[in-house]
Amino acid sequence: MPSMYDELLRLKTVAGEELSAITQIGELEPFRVKYLGRKGEFTLVMRQLGQAPPEERPRLGQLANEIKQDLETAFAAQESRLAESGGATHATFDLTLPGRTVPFGKLHPVTQVMDAVCAIFEGLGFAVAEGPDVEVDFYNFEALNIPPHHPARAMHDTFYVSDSLLLRTHTSPMQARIMEKEPPPLRMIAPGKVYRCDSDITHTPMFHQVEGFLVDRHISFADLKGVLSVFITKMFAENTPIRFRPSFFPFTEPSAEVDIGCVICGGKGCRVCKNTGWLEILGAGMIDPEVFKKVGYDPEEYSGFAFGLGIERIAMLKYGITDIRLFYENDLRFLSQF
Ligand code: FA5
Repeated sequence: MPSMYDELLRLKTVAGEELSAITQIGELEPFRVKYLGRKGEFTLVMRQLGQAPPEERPRLGQLANEIKQDLETAFAAQESRLAESGGATHATFDLTLPGRTVPFGKLHPVTQVMDAVCAIFEGLGFAVAEGPDVEVDFYNFEALNIPPHHPARAMHDTFYVSDSLLLRTHTSPMQARIMEKEPPPLRMIAPGKVYRCDSDITHTPMFHQVEGFLVDRHISFADLKGVLSVFITKMFAENTPIRFRPSFFPFTEPSAEVDIGCVICGGKGCRVCKNTGWLEILGAGMIDPEVFKKVGYDPEEYSGFAFGLGIERIAMLKYGITDIRLFYENDLRFLSQF
């Protein structure tokens, strides 16, 4: 059973809330009868004070009187407020309070980085083109010198839609799609989503790449190095450590992968860079003459370079993110920081 003390406090809260919710003058009298009338709840508790242990009576009596007086004062105030407003009040509306703001959405960090990457290449004179996410086997593989059963297909962990249709595993099919239609010289980038059956702290099944390629007469590996070095210093800092590592892609020869010094650990080695101090951000190379032949370019006359950048990797390095999957968990506490 609640003590008399608790009962008094409960009544104080309940009656106070009920009184302030009253908006019609006609509701005042029933309230008064319910709490303050001769048989009202408050009066009943006051009557029971005599049954309380003698040593508690003075304290309880004082509390009861205080609560009753407060309630009577609040009752009188509410009565005159309602009388002034013609018998009814509406929910209080304080014009001086600031309005409720509609929160602004923000661009996803990957979109922000994608925009920044494209802006740098556009500044270098590259035009932008987009292509389909659902790609035919021919452009994703065959046109890029990856015939059926080529071991490079295994590296791609492809999601197939049917035997000849797949979710593109890279943006490189755009090289073939564009070169097939347009004669050289060409200076293009192709941003977009790509898909691979792959997931860990530096891999996601859907990620973004920006393909870039430049074809003209007398293009050399030095041009590729120059363009990528400018890109990296603009995207990161002037003194960012860059490493060109020999690699292999069936559609470029020679090929390289480009790493930048891991910004998470400052190159000391951590779980993100797998203790190497470096993180791979792109693959690149000189376009293979076989690809030129497939799209009808003369490899004796033209040469060119191509590269494919991983946007999430760049975003990780730019913002110091240690797990790529955070980008796609849709946790607003994470996303709203960018
Ligand atoms: C390619 O996709 C080649 N098409 C790149 C290329 C283009 C080479 C033109 C030569 C000429 P690679 O599989 O290495 O290459 O991927 C390129 C970049 O995508 C990687 O450097 C990495 O930054 C990123 N990447 C690869 N797999 C994933 C993944 N599962 N999740 C997130 N990023 C990834």
